[in-house]
Amino acid sequence: METILTGIQSTGQPHIGNYLGAIKPAIHLAQSFQSYLFIADYHSLTKIHRSDEFHHNVYEVAATWLACGLNPEKAVIYRQSDIREIFELAWILACFTPKGFMNRAHSYKDKVAKNLEAGNKDPDFGISMGLFNYPILMSADILLFSANKVPVGEDQIQHIEFARDIAQKFNNNYGDIIKLPEALVQKEVKIVPGLDGRKMSKSYNNHIPLFVDSKKLRKLIMKIKTDSSPPESPKDPENSLIFDLYKEFSTESQQQELRAWYLRGIGWGEAKQVLFEAIDKELSEKREVYNQFMEDPSRLDKILFEGAQKARDVAKINLDKIREAVGV
Ligand code: ADP
Ligand code: TRP
Repeated sequence: METILTGIQSTGQPHIGNYLGAIKPAIHLAQSFQSYLFIADYHSLTKIHRSDEFHHNVYEVAATWLACGLNPEKAVIYRQSDIREIFELAWILACFTPKGFMNRAHSYKDKVAKNLEAGNKDPDFGISMGLFNYPILMSADILLFSANKVPVGEDQIQHIEFARDIAQKFNNNYGDIIKLPEALVQKEVKIVPGLDGRKMSKSYNNHIPLFVDSKKLRKLIMKIKTDSSPPESPKDPENSLIFDLYKEFSTESQQQELRAWYLRGIGWGEAKQVLFEAIDKELSEKREVYNQFMEDPSRLDKILFEGAQKARDVAKINLDKIREAVGV
């Protein structure tokens, strides 16, 4: 059976973009593959330096996976920092990674470009070695479990290519020891827009957290930017943020209905209300499960502990092969 593996950084409560773009598709795949789904908490240490926040964020992501239907009996769910083997492998891989690869990493290049734009004399201002090495740690996450496929958003493809290239460099030296992974980008998953029309992202602060209560959810949806056309004027559904989001939470026939209403003339407040009801309907049950987990983190600890044990059984075997190849 093929293995899929993917991680989500614990940088705050996942939003609707993460849900539609990463969580939902991964849970769907987990039904037919051996799956490793984890919380990339040490990746989030590149940004989060408050211990209480760091600790709490792990629960938010774990509870989200579980509330969205991940079955811990079938898939292996774990906290990255529990798998010590990942960090040993990260060092080994670093010794096979040309520094030039890391110079070319998008996330690093973006930060350098921002520094230069801001007129900073030091292009590396505020950039830690953790951020610079981020793609090596991600390679270790993937390669340690011999993952065949890594479901990710398009923004992560370069990271999977790094993992392949680094594995190849290792194998060139020691023989076919590490399996080369492939990115699995689902074409049907589009970039989910945020409240201001740009990509929904925590960094733009235009996101809708997945499990805010109904009242807050409604309030956020009412904030979606619209034009000032009067309620009775016909509107173009194909050019509407509200309609774009609605498509992700409705059936074809529900979309037809709303499309017709747009063409007849719909008030933006009414359109937002329809969107709110659709999202609330899909999420309300999951929100309840999420809240129950968050009220009792010891349940999450237990599930994560058991997941880590399963993951480490595999990690140890694979790391031993790699250590032996190196001559440790
Ligand atoms: P953020 O941009 O909010 O920090 P991350 O970069 O942590 O989100 O993304 C985690 C996962 O969710 C990735 O697989 C990414 O491709 C997916 N994702 C993030 N934002 C969106 C979006 N707006 N639409 C679709 N998928 C998204
Ligand atoms: N870098 C990924 C993101 O920001 C998170 C991640 C860390 C990951 N390790 C991974 C994804 C391994 C897939 C496989 O979304």
